[in-house]
Amino acid sequence: MIQQEENTRHLENFSFADFLHEWHTLEDKYSLVSPFIQGLVQNGYVMREVTGPAQNRVKIRDQVSQKETEVIMLGSNNYLGLANEPELVEATVQAVREYGIGCGGPPLLNGTTTLHRKLEKKIAEKKKCGDAMLFASGYAANVGWSTGLLGSGDYLIYDSQSHASLHDGMKMGSFRSIPFAHNNIQELRRHLMQVRWKSPYTNVIVCVEGVYSMDGDIAPLPEIRQICTKYGALLAVDDAHGSGVLGRTGNGTAEHFQMDSEIDIHMGTFSKSFGVTGGYVAGQKEMIDALRLCARSYMFSASLPPSIVAGVHAGYEFIDRHPERLTQLHDNVQYMVKGLRSMGFSIEVETAIIPILIPEQIQMSTVIKRFHEEGVFINGVEYPAVERDKQRLRISMMATLTKQDLNYALGVFKKLGNEFGILS
Ligand SMILES: Cc1ncc(COP(=O)(O)O)c(C=O)c1O
Repeated sequence: MIQQEENTRHLENFSFADFLHEWHTLEDKYSLVSPFIQGLVQNGYVMREVTGPAQNRVKIRDQVSQKETEVIMLGSNNYLGLANEPELVEATVQAVREYGIGCGGPPLLNGTTTLHRKLEKKIAEKKKCGDAMLFASGYAANVGWSTGLLGSGDYLIYDSQSHASLHDGMKMGSFRSIPFAHNNIQELRRHLMQVRWKSPYTNVIVCVEGVYSMDGDIAPLPEIRQICTKYGALLAVDDAHGSGVLGRTGNGTAEHFQMDSEIDIHMGTFSKSFGVTGGYVAGQKEMIDALRLCARSYMFSASLPPSIVAGVHAGYEFIDRHPERLTQLHDNVQYMVKGLRSMGFSIEVETAIIPILIPEQIQMSTVIKRFHEEGVFINGVEYPAVERDKQRLRISMMATLTKQDLNYALGVFKKLGNEFGILS
């Protein structure tokens, strides 16, 4: 643990993990975390200041020189490039004119407009469910459904690579939770057998992600569904990174496996493919009704602004009318992967997330800094978000990146791959 005397040591040598522990006093915490985070901001490792719309190229303001430079965006979850799509911007602006900038209340009181219900019905129709409900974020949706459905004595069995929001639901809830090793169906089966042996009638929900946010790999939903049915468990799928990316019409991982109507709890977010914020849960009508009353992150939090809701609704319509956007996304992924593999990067890719492992001895912040200097915005992920020996660059592909953008980025990968000695 870092002691306060170490305040004077060079904080560049520390990583996120060094700061994630209990602190004796707030003074200790502030005096070390504050300079550490400020250093990362100054270096452009976190909170890079974007000075315009989210699109294939963005302008970044350097925190030291205040100079603006244009970079190619390989670090945005705006997979379909909808965040600055004129049609969606127009629908959003139109809703501001008609509804103002917010509701001023939560959904059960004054926060449900015609637009909110229209979007809920649209999502329910897309997910082939009885109803859907909107949350202020995907984070709130995960906390909401888990704590709202499961009580003490109930079980949540979840993939060990699940998002922090599910973990926070576990901290807030009174239910019991059991992790299984990532995508390990045998281990999931073992846990389900044991739970059912002990508690034949208790509520059990298995939660997986359609697409995992760090590796971009896909959950084997058909096998998972089969085991859940066998052991009487409900299946929840967090499809934050699958919706808008997978499936014939971009409807997500369940559509990819042609099993939309076989998921009990669909959870998703508008913060990735829809380019805004907000989350949802969809399922049978009675479940959604129960959650409207029992999910505290829904009941006690103000509704999404109508403009955002209108933007997401327009996004669904855009995706239906422009299937070429989805094709473009997958073409871009293939192009990038082919280019990276041809220069010696070893990568496995199934979705719009392309992870590139960086050896543990290389400091991620240095790598990221070099990419930015060369005009490419990319995110680094390190422990504790991933295991220590699995730190990585995480490319998030966008449909709106042009071949020129990708060729430029590939040139930078080649240059820096050689510079850091990471080409195999
Ligand atoms: C798998 C997964 N679930 C949930 C969330 C939370 O979504 P939001 O950003 O809408 O709060 C994220 C966001 O990163 C995510 O990756």
